[in-house]
Amino acid sequence: AKPVIVAIDGPAGTGKSSTSKAVAAQLGLSYLDTGAQYRAITWWMVNNGIDIDDPSAIAAVAGKPEIVSGTDPAGPTITVDGIDVAGPIRTQEVSSKVSAVSAVPEVRTRITELQRSLATSAQDGIVVEGRDIGTTVLPDADLKVFLTASPEARAARRSGELKGADVHATREALIKRDAADSSRKTSPLAKADDAVEVDTTDLTLQQVIECVVTLVEEKR
Ligand code: C5P
Repeated sequence: AKPVIVAIDGPAGTGKSSTSKAVAAQLGLSYLDTGAQYRAITWWMVNNGIDIDDPSAIAAVAGKPEIVSGTDPAGPTITVDGIDVAGPIRTQEVSSKVSAVSAVPEVRTRITELQRSLATSAQDGIVVEGRDIGTTVLPDADLKVFLTASPEARAARRSGELKGADVHATREALIKRDAADSSRKTSPLAKADDAVEVDTTDLTLQQVIECVVTLVEEKR
């Protein structure tokens, strides 16, 4: 079979990562978490004392960190300059700063190049999840899925992941991040015209996975 390229976009807390990983594993495809790459570059900026409120300072060093993503869905990895950052990129500090860093065009150009090269080198195909994969990174993807869910469902899922985090605070933080991601100038979070929209509010993770697997199989 020819390599199949699947783009899965949507806001935070819609089940993008869990769905994308499971679909890739079931179909024997590679998996790329593009949010992890933006988190990794944000982690590097914070660690190197770059002023997050200064886009030109961010732009000036956007090419410096070396970001490497491992694309096995059974155990995706992410390193920055050889350092394993899988844990540190999930802190609230990184979550609250990533939108500002990912809005800088020089950061997006850089990360988008990495994403395209990983997608074209995946032997059997790849599931790529993010915000602008269907619209900007891989506009010729074989299948584009846009996942949505109510803010309540998204906050509940995310606070479950963060084990006991306050649902209200999580909801506010998510809404703020989505608003920033959707309103930025360079490749904002958006549904591609030819994407299939799946509202996951009342679906189990298993149902979402089955739905996407079926959609991929129709394309193969
Ligand atoms: O998916 P995740 O929530 O880990 O993404 C973290 C952040 O990375 C998003 O809030 C967004 O600012 C940025 N991002 C992006 N484009 C992508 C993926 C993520 O701008 N394709």
